[in-house]
Amino acid sequence: MTMSLEAKLVISSIALLATVSAVIATATTLLFNDFLTDRLDSQVSSAARRSTSGSLPPGSAPPEAREVSFLLLPGQSELTFGARIRQGAVRRAALLTDGGSVREVPPPPSLTRVTNVPVTVGLGPLGDYRMVSSRAPDGDLLVTGLPVTGMQSTLTRLVVVEAAVTLAGVALTAVACTLLVRRAVRPLGRLAATATRVSELPLATGDAVRLSRVPEVDTDPRTEVGQVGGALNRMLGHVETAFAVRHESETRLRQFIADASHELRTPLASIVGYAELTRRGGEPHGPQTAHALGRIRSEAGRMTTLVEDLLLLARLDAGRPLERLALDLSPLVVNAVSDAYAAAPRHRWLVNLPDQPALVSGDADRLHQVVTNLLANARTHTPPGTTVTTTVLLAPGRVSVRVADDGPGIPGHVLPHVFGRFARGDGSRSRLAGGSGLGLAIVSAVAAAHEGRVEVASVPGDTVFTLVLPAADDQILPPSGDQVPPAERRAADGHEHRGEQRERRGSHRAG
Ligand SMILES: Nc1ncnc2c1ncn2[C@@H]1O[C@H](COP(=O)(O)OP(=O)(O)OP(=O)(O)O)[C@@H](O)[C@H]1O
Ligand SMILES: [Mg+2]
Repeated sequence: MTMSLEAKLVISSIALLATVSAVIATATTLLFNDFLTDRLDSQVSSAARRSTSGSLPPGSAPPEAREVSFLLLPGQSELTFGARIRQGAVRRAALLTDGGSVREVPPPPSLTRVTNVPVTVGLGPLGDYRMVSSRAPDGDLLVTGLPVTGMQSTLTRLVVVEAAVTLAGVALTAVACTLLVRRAVRPLGRLAATATRVSELPLATGDAVRLSRVPEVDTDPRTEVGQVGGALNRMLGHVETAFAVRHESETRLRQFIADASHELRTPLASIVGYAELTRRGGEPHGPQTAHALGRIRSEAGRMTTLVEDLLLLARLDAGRPLERLALDLSPLVVNAVSDAYAAAPRHRWLVNLPDQPALVSGDADRLHQVVTNLLANARTHTPPGTTVTTTVLLAPGRVSVRVADDGPGIPGHVLPHVFGRFARGDGSRSRLAGGSGLGLAIVSAVAAAHEGRVEVASVPGDTVFTLVLPAADDQILPPSGDQVPPAERRAADGHEHRGEQRERRGSHRAG
């Protein structure tokens, strides 16, 4: 059973107190019972001695006190029981009443078994008696007894007092214990609150954070809670330092990549320029030189793309703010598909657009790059003849761009980290395969910078990338849910489609 520490401490203290009280009360009662019995026994013995030692003047005893006249001897207390046994037979049994007279009572059956050691004998409605027998000078056995009712009522009173005192003590202890324990565990609550606050911080982002600390009062090393509090604070301090150091080194690394990329751009541009100049310079080259110049130009071009990608990622990582302008994604998508068609006319390029403008607030160049990267993948990682369908969808509060192809799909080992940096399907990094593996990393980083996200689902024959962006505030929404007007669902070959686009959305020239 789960119980709070407070409840556990209070309940166990009370249980302990109740047990100890019960043991003490029982022991006291037993001892007191023994003591009272001893005292009664000595009283009975004295009464018995009185019964046998004295005698009343002859004829002075009233007739009803016949055979038990020893009850009327001076010193006998009221309610004393007396009986005479002659030759094993009870002659008479009687009681000395309150008024000093003698009243006959029926003798109990066990009376003849009473010896000179006191025993308890029941007298029916008169209650129990301690009785002892003694021999009279005339040879008869005289049984003398005293009632135990007085002793019993004393014992009952004792038990009642004990129970009342114990109950009151337990109740008082419960209240006091609850208050004390509550006070004692309060600092633990504060430690837990601090730990909870820290656990709710987004520590995984890698940013430098200021962690809250346990209050000063809870860090006193002389108390157990203080030791925990102090240790927690020291640990939080170390964690904070570690985060600061990590953040610092990440920032330095990002800065380094950004600087290096930036610095590489100029020499790369020069290399491309000079290669081009030499190629076109009119001087005759041998075929080998011409090939070498071509390679220099294309490799320098690849390197330029890589450097640009690295620079963009470094800037996005550094949280550089993007341009945020309201823009319609539909023409942007049409342009990007047209470019893709120009680059790969043997693929089938289809576009579905909604009637309303798909407004988002963002950076047009970056979003164009995102769509271009997705289309480039659908073009470069699939064979000619593959159908690539690009759809713009409107939903309450968001705009999505879906790029689907029926190519071979993303290799299983790449899919889980396809948005990671330098994640590529072909492990060889051969230059023929082209890409560097940064395309989707950029898609994901740009989506995140727009508070959006990108998702992928891929099986052979069906690969779908979905870019989801928050809609611009003035987005006009279709009546309900994701919706594409039926007219737009029509599939068309890239060429015809571009014609349609131009007609329908005259302001956006595609291709
Ligand atoms: N539509 C797709 N069909 C099949 N595989 C894909 C598709 N899109 C991406 N991939 C796989 O995911 C990998 C990572 O894609 P990503 O765009 O990040 O890098 P890349 O295309 O190889 O290089 P880069 O885009 O930097 O030129 C690719 O190498 C490819 O194996
Ligand atoms: Mg790519």
